[in-house]
Amino acid sequence: MGSSFPKDFFTGLSFGKTLLVSGLVLYLILVPFFTTQVSQIFLIKWASSSQPVIPKDPSRTNLSHIAFGLLGSVKTWPHRRGYLEAWWRPNQTRGYVYLDKPPTPDLLPWPQTAPPYRVVDNISYLLQHIKPRFELMPRMVHGILELFKEEHDNMRWIVMGDDDSIFFVDNIVDVLAEYDHTKYYYLGWHSESVISNYWFSFDQAFGGGGIVLSYPLAKALVKDMDGCLIRYAQSTSADLITMTCIADIGVNLTPHKGIHQVDLHGDFSGYLSAHPKVPLMTFHHFDAMDPIFPSMDRMESTRHLMKAANADQSRLLQQTICYHRQTNWSFSISWGYSAQIYERIMPRSYLQMPIETFRPWARGPKPPFYMFNTRPLSEDPCEAPHFFFFESVYKSISGAELITSYVRARPRGLPACSSSGNHSSADSISRIQVFSPAKKRIQIDRCECCDIIRVDNAKAKVKFRECKIDEIIA
Ligand SMILES: *[C@@H]1O[C@H](CO)[C@@H](O)[C@H](O)[C@H]1NC(C)=O
Ligand SMILES: *[C@@H]1O[C@H](CO)[C@@H](O)[C@H](O)[C@H]1NC(C)=O
Ligand SMILES: *[C@@H]1O[C@H](CO)[C@@H](O)[C@H](O)[C@H]1NC(C)=O
Ligand SMILES: *[C@@H]1O[C@H](CO)[C@@H](O)[C@H](O)[C@H]1NC(C)=O
Ligand SMILES: *[C@@H]1O[C@H](CO)[C@@H](O)[C@H](O)[C@H]1NC(C)=O
Repeated sequence: MGSSFPKDFFTGLSFGKTLLVSGLVLYLILVPFFTTQVSQIFLIKWASSSQPVIPKDPSRTNLSHIAFGLLGSVKTWPHRRGYLEAWWRPNQTRGYVYLDKPPTPDLLPWPQTAPPYRVVDNISYLLQHIKPRFELMPRMVHGILELFKEEHDNMRWIVMGDDDSIFFVDNIVDVLAEYDHTKYYYLGWHSESVISNYWFSFDQAFGGGGIVLSYPLAKALVKDMDGCLIRYAQSTSADLITMTCIADIGVNLTPHKGIHQVDLHGDFSGYLSAHPKVPLMTFHHFDAMDPIFPSMDRMESTRHLMKAANADQSRLLQQTICYHRQTNWSFSISWGYSAQIYERIMPRSYLQMPIETFRPWARGPKPPFYMFNTRPLSEDPCEAPHFFFFESVYKSISGAELITSYVRARPRGLPACSSSGNHSSADSISRIQVFSPAKKRIQIDRCECCDIIRVDNAKAKVKFRECKIDEIIA
């Protein structure tokens, strides 16, 4: 546009002419500027509410390129199979659960709903020579070789886990599709407990949360498997042996905050209500904690969470925060899991810190116990939230929205918060309904925003949308 004016246009103009011309310039500049802004808003809306967000690229990584290796045992299978069956997609997910010995007759016929099983290789020829400190450790690492041997055709990624690992496969596909599978990658994340990382390593992927290897890395690791197990036979941990051998290949950990070892005990709801802003990929150790939903057992809880996961994994546990100005309440939604009302305006950065409802796996002598900041459980009415848990998910009649409902877990049992005005408490609210676009949300550079569209005596309605370009959430 500037090129339509001669270069010396502004030189030698009288004042009046300048005014006139600058009006013209403003006009010329502003119109296209507004147009661009409008079309940007339009584009964002369009992208989040119509199908082809991901171009149909035939070379894109999909579920068929990922091989899962799950380490189990005949002893733990009967009470843990439900964790794998909750996410396994028969005839779509590929891989095996590795058992320490052949299944006993009562476990047969093997269920179609579970990953097919394999019995781990007998590597006693190797163990005789290396005399490992714990025989189980090399056997577990050897599982990578056993999976690779069978599943290397059209395979791009290996994902190793345990028989109590819960995987969110749509998100795993979307995350891995962003990486070049022809390069060397080792993805995982550390333990939530500081002391576990100190004992083992801050630089290793913890196996129950999941160890993710790209094809070339898996191939190199498998090629030198015997050498690796011999070199590190004295190690006390299979995950540590894996990391050590990968380091010998020249590859280091790429941390991903969606992978969860869950080295925690007790009530996990504080963490699940403030998940880091990345796609959720895995959970481990549900067996070692309280059930994640009140009045459900662990298996029911797992299946319940999968109802939300099957509707929209891209939003699952993503925390969305908005404020109700008329009452000075903060709403925090962890999509598909929980909703909270605070009777005070609190900054997003504060609400993103998990409330410490849980305990560390093992406690060091003094804090810090966790690899993240926490907020204390509080009895202060201006600090303690009203807690609601995921109840159901429906598609709207038009098909454009998903409606998730969250019901009150328990009465809060505290007076109203009076410091930010003397208003009524949220005690009467028994249900929160959340309306979110029925389309996967791929962009994660920014959170979603929301509006409180209605609050009455019993119910609150919240609508998700993309944040406006310069919107401040405060
Ligand atoms: C996955 O990608 C392969 C190409 O590598 C293609 O043949 C296959 O149909 C795709 N599968 C799905 C389920 O999209
Ligand atoms: C998986 O495929 C096999 C045959 O290929 C079929 O017999 C079986 O019913 C399928 N299982 C499911 C759960 O679709
Ligand atoms: C593994 O192989 C050794 C011989 O190499 C044999 O003595 C042992 O019984 C085998 N173990 C199992 C569980 O089959
Ligand atoms: C909300 O809080 C502000 C300051 O914290 C206060 O001035 C205002 O009166 C409050 N509004 C209500 C409705 O309580
Ligand atoms: C709040 O309102 C009640 C009456 O509804 C009154 O008794 C109380 O003193 C008020 N508290 C504050 C801090 O204004």
